Amino acid sequence: MTTTPESANSQTGNGSGVAPSKKSEHLLSLRGIAKHFGAVQALKHVDLDIPAGKVTALIGDNGAGKSTLIKTISGIWAPTAGDVFWNGEQVKVHTPGDASALGISTVYQDLALCDNLDIVQNMYLGHEETRGITLDEIAMELNTKKVLKDLSVSTVKSVRQLVGSLSGGQRQAVAVARAVMRDTQLVIMDEPTAALGVSQTHQVLELIKNLSDRGIAVIVISHNLTDVFKVADRLAVMHLGTLVSSGDISQYDTTSAVELITTGESKGAPSSLASSH
Ligand SMILES: Nc1ncnc2c1ncn2[C@@H]1O[C@H](COP(=O)(O)OP(=O)(O)OP(=O)(O)O)[C@@H](O)[C@H]1O
Ligand SMILES: [Mg+2]
Repeated sequence: MTTTPESANSQTGNGSGVAPSKKSEHLLSLRGIAKHFGAVQALKHVDLDIPAGKVTALIGDNGAGKSTLIKTISGIWAPTAGDVFWNGEQVKVHTPGDASALGISTVYQDLALCDNLDIVQNMYLGHEETRGITLDEIAMELNTKKVLKDLSVSTVKSVRQLVGSLSGGQRQAVAVARAVMRDTQLVIMDEPTAALGVSQTHQVLELIKNLSDRGIAVIVISHNLTDVFKVADRLAVMHLGTLVSSGDISQYDTTSAVELITTGESKGAPSSLASSH
Protein backbone atom coordinates (compact mmCIF):
# COMPACT_ATOMS: atom_id res chain seq x y z
CA MET A 1 0.00 0.00 0.00
CA THR A 2 1.17 3.50 -0.67
CA THR A 3 0.91 6.22 1.92
CA THR A 4 -2.43 7.95 2.01
CA PRO A 5 -2.57 11.72 1.78
CA GLU A 6 -3.70 11.91 5.39
CA SER A 7 -0.64 10.09 6.64
CA ALA A 8 1.81 11.84 4.33
CA ASN A 9 3.58 14.61 6.15
CA SER A 10 4.98 16.96 3.54
CA GLN A 11 3.61 20.49 3.68
CA THR A 12 2.43 22.23 0.57
CA GLY A 13 1.88 25.85 -0.48
CA ASN A 14 -1.53 27.36 -0.05
CA GLY A 15 -3.63 24.18 -0.05
CA SER A 16 -4.79 22.03 2.80
CA GLY A 17 -1.23 21.44 3.95
CA VAL A 18 -1.18 17.67 3.36
CA ALA A 19 0.31 16.50 0.09
CA PRO A 20 -0.37 13.12 -1.46
CA SER A 21 2.48 10.65 -1.16
CA LYS A 22 5.21 10.77 -3.81
CA LYS A 23 4.28 7.29 -5.00
CA SER A 24 0.66 8.30 -5.26
CA GLU A 25 -1.87 5.66 -6.22
CA HIS A 26 -3.93 8.56 -7.53
CA LEU A 27 -3.52 10.07 -10.94
CA LEU A 28 -4.84 13.45 -9.82
CA SER A 29 -5.10 14.92 -6.33
CA LEU A 30 -6.60 18.29 -5.46
CA ARG A 31 -5.82 19.87 -2.12
CA GLY A 32 -7.51 22.97 -0.76
CA ILE A 33 -8.75 24.16 -4.15
CA ALA A 34 -10.69 27.43 -3.91
CA LYS A 35 -12.12 29.61 -6.66
CA HIS A 36 -13.75 32.99 -6.21
CA PHE A 37 -15.63 35.00 -8.82
CA GLY A 38 -15.65 38.42 -7.13
CA ALA A 39 -17.78 37.93 -4.03
CA VAL A 40 -19.02 34.50 -5.14
CA GLN A 41 -17.04 31.65 -3.60
CA ALA A 42 -17.69 28.95 -6.21
CA LEU A 43 -15.23 26.44 -4.68
CA LYS A 44 -14.23 26.23 -1.02
CA HIS A 45 -11.20 24.18 -0.06
CA VAL A 46 -11.83 21.12 -2.24
CA ASP A 47 -9.76 17.99 -1.50
CA LEU A 48 -10.30 15.21 -4.04
CA ASP A 49 -8.37 12.18 -5.29
CA ILE A 50 -8.94 10.70 -8.74
CA PRO A 51 -7.55 7.19 -9.34
CA ALA A 52 -6.59 5.87 -12.79
CA GLY A 53 -8.92 3.40 -14.51
CA LYS A 54 -11.96 4.40 -12.45
CA VAL A 55 -15.08 6.42 -13.21
CA THR A 56 -15.69 9.18 -10.66
CA ALA A 57 -19.16 10.74 -10.83
CA LEU A 58 -19.28 14.37 -9.69
CA ILE A 59 -22.76 15.23 -8.53
CA GLY A 60 -24.48 18.17 -6.84
CA ASP A 61 -27.33 20.63 -7.28
CA ASN A 62 -27.36 23.50 -9.80
CA GLY A 63 -24.70 26.03 -8.89
CA ALA A 64 -22.91 23.63 -6.49
CA GLY A 65 -19.60 24.24 -8.27
CA LYS A 66 -19.22 21.11 -10.41
CA SER A 67 -18.46 22.86 -13.70
CA THR A 68 -16.19 25.34 -11.94
CA LEU A 69 -14.25 22.43 -10.42
CA ILE A 70 -13.71 20.68 -13.75
CA LYS A 71 -12.84 23.97 -15.44
CA THR A 72 -10.19 24.44 -12.77
CA ILE A 73 -8.79 20.95 -13.46
CA SER A 74 -8.90 21.68 -17.20
CA GLY A 75 -6.96 24.93 -16.92
CA ILE A 76 -9.85 27.21 -17.92
CA TRP A 77 -9.74 28.88 -14.49
CA ALA A 78 -6.61 29.14 -12.37
CA PRO A 79 -7.61 28.34 -8.78
CA THR A 80 -7.66 31.23 -6.32
CA ALA A 81 -5.91 28.91 -3.84
CA GLY A 82 -4.88 25.28 -3.55
CA ASP A 83 -2.53 22.67 -4.94
CA VAL A 84 -2.82 20.18 -7.78
CA PHE A 85 -0.81 16.93 -7.87
CA TRP A 86 -0.38 14.66 -10.90
CA ASN A 87 0.95 11.18 -10.07
CA GLY A 88 2.02 12.64 -6.72
CA GLU A 89 4.02 15.52 -8.23
CA GLN A 90 2.84 19.06 -7.69
CA VAL A 91 1.87 20.73 -10.97
CA LYS A 92 0.40 24.04 -12.15
CA VAL A 93 -2.60 23.77 -14.45
CA HIS A 94 -3.25 27.37 -15.38
CA THR A 95 -4.09 27.02 -19.08
CA PRO A 96 -5.86 24.39 -21.21
CA GLY A 97 -2.42 23.74 -22.73
CA ASP A 98 -1.05 22.81 -19.27
CA ALA A 99 -3.92 20.33 -18.83
CA SER A 100 -3.51 18.82 -22.27
CA ALA A 101 0.26 18.44 -21.78
CA LEU A 102 -0.46 16.32 -18.69
CA GLY A 103 -2.93 14.13 -20.58
CA ILE A 104 -6.20 15.73 -19.42
CA SER A 105 -8.97 16.04 -22.04
CA THR A 106 -12.30 17.65 -21.36
CA VAL A 107 -15.54 17.14 -23.25
CA TYR A 108 -17.77 20.14 -22.54
CA GLN A 109 -21.50 19.96 -22.79
CA ASP A 110 -21.70 22.00 -26.00
CA LEU A 111 -19.01 19.64 -27.36
CA ALA A 112 -17.41 22.34 -29.53
CA LEU A 113 -17.68 20.29 -32.71
CA CYS A 114 -18.05 21.91 -36.14
CA ASP A 115 -21.28 20.82 -37.84
CA ASN A 116 -20.06 21.78 -41.30
CA LEU A 117 -16.98 19.53 -41.12
CA ASP A 118 -16.89 15.74 -41.36
CA ILE A 119 -15.86 13.40 -38.54
CA VAL A 120 -12.22 13.11 -39.63
CA GLN A 121 -11.86 16.90 -39.96
CA ASN A 122 -13.37 17.38 -36.49
CA MET A 123 -11.07 14.78 -34.98
CA TYR A 124 -7.99 16.51 -36.31
CA LEU A 125 -9.10 20.16 -36.12
CA GLY A 126 -6.00 22.19 -35.29
CA HIS A 127 -3.77 19.07 -35.19
CA GLU A 128 -3.91 18.00 -38.85
CA GLU A 129 -1.44 15.37 -40.03
CA THR A 130 0.61 16.51 -43.00
CA ARG A 131 2.68 14.77 -45.61
CA GLY A 132 5.05 17.25 -47.17
CA ILE A 133 2.90 20.30 -47.86
CA THR A 134 -0.40 18.43 -48.17
CA LEU A 135 -2.73 17.00 -45.56
CA ASP A 136 -2.36 13.27 -45.01
CA GLU A 137 -6.04 12.49 -45.49
CA ILE A 138 -5.55 8.73 -45.66
CA ALA A 139 -3.62 8.53 -42.38
CA MET A 140 -6.18 10.75 -40.64
CA GLU A 141 -9.09 8.72 -41.99
CA LEU A 142 -7.56 5.37 -41.04
CA ASN A 143 -6.71 6.56 -37.55
CA THR A 144 -10.17 8.03 -37.04
CA LYS A 145 -11.68 4.65 -37.98
CA LYS A 146 -9.30 2.88 -35.60
CA VAL A 147 -10.06 5.17 -32.65
CA LEU A 148 -13.82 4.80 -33.18
CA LYS A 149 -13.42 1.02 -33.49
CA ASP A 150 -11.28 0.87 -30.34
CA LEU A 151 -14.06 2.69 -28.52
CA SER A 152 -16.59 0.21 -29.95
CA VAL A 153 -18.45 3.01 -31.74
CA SER A 154 -20.26 1.03 -34.42
CA THR A 155 -23.27 3.15 -35.33
CA VAL A 156 -21.41 5.76 -37.40
CA LYS A 157 -21.80 4.84 -41.08
CA SER A 158 -18.93 6.83 -42.56
CA VAL A 159 -16.16 8.91 -41.04
CA ARG A 160 -16.69 11.31 -43.97
CA GLN A 161 -20.19 12.11 -42.71
CA LEU A 162 -20.74 15.75 -41.66
CA VAL A 163 -20.96 16.04 -37.89
CA GLY A 164 -24.12 18.13 -38.36
CA SER A 165 -25.87 14.97 -39.61
CA LEU A 166 -25.04 12.87 -36.52
CA SER A 167 -27.33 12.07 -33.61
CA GLY A 168 -26.58 13.45 -30.15
CA GLY A 169 -25.04 10.17 -29.00
CA GLN A 170 -22.86 9.92 -32.09
CA ARG A 171 -21.70 13.53 -31.65
CA GLN A 172 -20.81 12.69 -28.06
CA ALA A 173 -18.87 9.65 -29.31
CA VAL A 174 -16.91 11.80 -31.77
CA ALA A 175 -16.14 14.34 -29.04
CA VAL A 176 -14.92 11.56 -26.73
CA ALA A 177 -12.92 9.93 -29.54
CA ARG A 178 -11.25 13.26 -30.22
CA ALA A 179 -10.51 13.66 -26.52
CA VAL A 180 -8.83 10.25 -26.24
CA MET A 181 -7.07 10.26 -29.61
CA ARG A 182 -3.97 11.82 -28.15
CA ASP A 183 -2.16 10.50 -25.11
CA THR A 184 -5.02 10.99 -22.69
CA GLN A 185 -4.97 9.73 -19.12
CA LEU A 186 -7.95 11.62 -17.72
CA VAL A 187 -11.18 12.35 -19.58
CA ILE A 188 -13.59 14.82 -18.01
CA MET A 189 -17.19 14.98 -19.24
CA ASP A 190 -19.72 17.64 -18.22
CA GLU A 191 -23.22 16.13 -18.40
CA PRO A 192 -22.58 13.94 -21.44
CA THR A 193 -26.02 12.34 -21.43
CA ALA A 194 -28.15 15.38 -20.54
CA ALA A 195 -29.58 15.81 -24.04
CA LEU A 196 -29.71 12.15 -25.03
CA GLY A 197 -32.44 9.56 -25.45
CA VAL A 198 -32.45 6.14 -23.81
CA SER A 199 -30.40 4.18 -26.32
CA GLN A 200 -27.94 7.01 -26.98
CA THR A 201 -27.44 7.37 -23.22
CA HIS A 202 -26.75 3.64 -23.05
CA GLN A 203 -24.11 4.02 -25.81
CA VAL A 204 -22.37 6.87 -24.01
CA LEU A 205 -22.36 4.98 -20.69
CA GLU A 206 -20.78 2.00 -22.49
CA LEU A 207 -18.20 4.39 -23.94
CA ILE A 208 -17.37 5.66 -20.46
CA LYS A 209 -16.93 2.09 -19.17
CA ASN A 210 -14.76 1.30 -22.18
CA LEU A 211 -12.45 4.23 -21.32
CA SER A 212 -12.01 3.11 -17.71
CA ASP A 213 -11.45 -0.51 -18.82
CA ARG A 214 -8.53 0.83 -20.83
CA GLY A 215 -7.01 2.37 -17.68
CA ILE A 216 -8.16 5.91 -18.38
CA ALA A 217 -9.53 7.90 -15.43
CA VAL A 218 -12.93 9.44 -16.08
CA ILE A 219 -14.68 12.25 -14.21
CA VAL A 220 -18.29 12.56 -15.25
CA ILE A 221 -20.75 15.22 -14.09
CA SER A 222 -24.33 14.03 -14.13
CA HIS A 223 -27.69 14.97 -12.65
CA ASN A 224 -29.05 11.53 -13.51
CA LEU A 225 -28.52 9.27 -10.51
CA THR A 226 -29.64 6.17 -12.42
CA ASP A 227 -26.80 6.75 -14.89
CA VAL A 228 -24.42 7.52 -12.03
CA PHE A 229 -25.12 4.26 -10.22
CA LYS A 230 -24.82 2.35 -13.52
CA VAL A 231 -21.42 3.66 -14.50
CA ALA A 232 -19.51 5.12 -11.55
CA ASP A 233 -16.89 3.40 -9.39
CA ARG A 234 -16.61 6.42 -7.12
CA LEU A 235 -18.83 9.30 -6.10
CA ALA A 236 -17.93 12.90 -5.24
CA VAL A 237 -20.71 15.19 -4.03
CA MET A 238 -20.62 18.98 -4.07
CA HIS A 239 -22.87 21.27 -2.07
CA LEU A 240 -22.60 25.09 -2.21
CA GLY A 241 -18.97 25.02 -3.35
CA THR A 242 -17.84 22.41 -0.83
CA LEU A 243 -16.99 18.80 -1.62
CA VAL A 244 -19.13 17.27 1.12
CA SER A 245 -18.53 13.58 0.48
CA SER A 246 -16.49 11.25 -1.67
CA GLY A 247 -15.81 7.55 -1.71
CA ASP A 248 -16.53 4.22 -3.31
CA ILE A 249 -19.95 4.03 -4.98
CA SER A 250 -20.78 1.00 -2.80
CA GLN A 251 -20.86 3.32 0.21
CA TYR A 252 -23.88 5.21 -1.20
CA ASP A 253 -27.42 4.57 -2.28
CA THR A 254 -29.92 6.83 -4.04
CA THR A 255 -31.33 8.07 -0.73
CA SER A 256 -27.97 9.12 0.71
CA ALA A 257 -26.90 10.64 -2.62
CA VAL A 258 -30.09 12.74 -2.79
CA GLU A 259 -29.65 13.82 0.86
CA LEU A 260 -26.08 14.88 0.19
CA ILE A 261 -27.08 16.79 -2.93
CA THR A 262 -29.92 18.65 -1.24
CA THR A 263 -28.61 19.22 2.29
CA GLY A 264 -24.87 18.52 2.07
CA GLU A 265 -25.22 15.83 4.76
CA SER A 266 -26.24 12.22 5.09
CA LYS A 267 -25.82 10.01 8.13
CA GLY A 268 -23.23 7.30 7.51
CA ALA A 269 -22.02 8.69 4.16
CA PRO A 270 -18.25 9.01 3.78
CA SER A 271 -16.70 12.41 4.45
CA SER A 272 -14.75 14.00 1.63
CA LEU A 273 -11.37 12.95 3.04
CA ALA A 274 -12.45 9.31 3.00
CA SER A 275 -11.78 9.50 -0.75
CA SER A 276 -8.14 8.92 0.00
CA HIS A 277 -8.58 5.48 1.59
N1 LIG B 1 -17.74 32.83 -14.88
C1 LIG B 1 -18.39 33.00 -13.73
N2 LIG B 1 -18.51 34.23 -13.18
C2 LIG B 1 -19.16 34.42 -12.02
N3 LIG B 1 -19.73 33.44 -11.31
C3 LIG B 1 -19.66 32.19 -11.80
C4 LIG B 1 -19.00 31.91 -13.04
N4 LIG B 1 -19.07 30.58 -13.27
C5 LIG B 1 -19.75 30.06 -12.24
N5 LIG B 1 -20.10 31.02 -11.36
C6 LIG B 1 -20.85 30.82 -10.09
O1 LIG B 1 -20.21 29.77 -9.39
C7 LIG B 1 -21.18 28.93 -8.77
C8 LIG B 1 -20.97 27.51 -9.23
O2 LIG B 1 -21.32 27.41 -10.60
P1 LIG B 1 -21.08 26.11 -11.47
O3 LIG B 1 -21.36 26.47 -12.89
O4 LIG B 1 -19.77 25.56 -11.16
O5 LIG B 1 -22.21 25.14 -10.91
P2 LIG B 1 -22.63 23.67 -11.36
O6 LIG B 1 -22.51 22.80 -10.16
O7 LIG B 1 -21.89 23.28 -12.58
O8 LIG B 1 -24.18 23.86 -11.68
P3 LIG B 1 -25.11 23.21 -12.83
O9 LIG B 1 -25.52 21.87 -12.32
O10 LIG B 1 -26.27 24.15 -12.88
O11 LIG B 1 -24.33 23.16 -14.11
C9 LIG B 1 -22.54 29.51 -9.11
O12 LIG B 1 -22.94 30.33 -8.02
C10 LIG B 1 -22.27 30.34 -10.34
O13 LIG B 1 -23.16 31.42 -10.42
MG1 LIG C 1 -22.44 22.92 -14.57
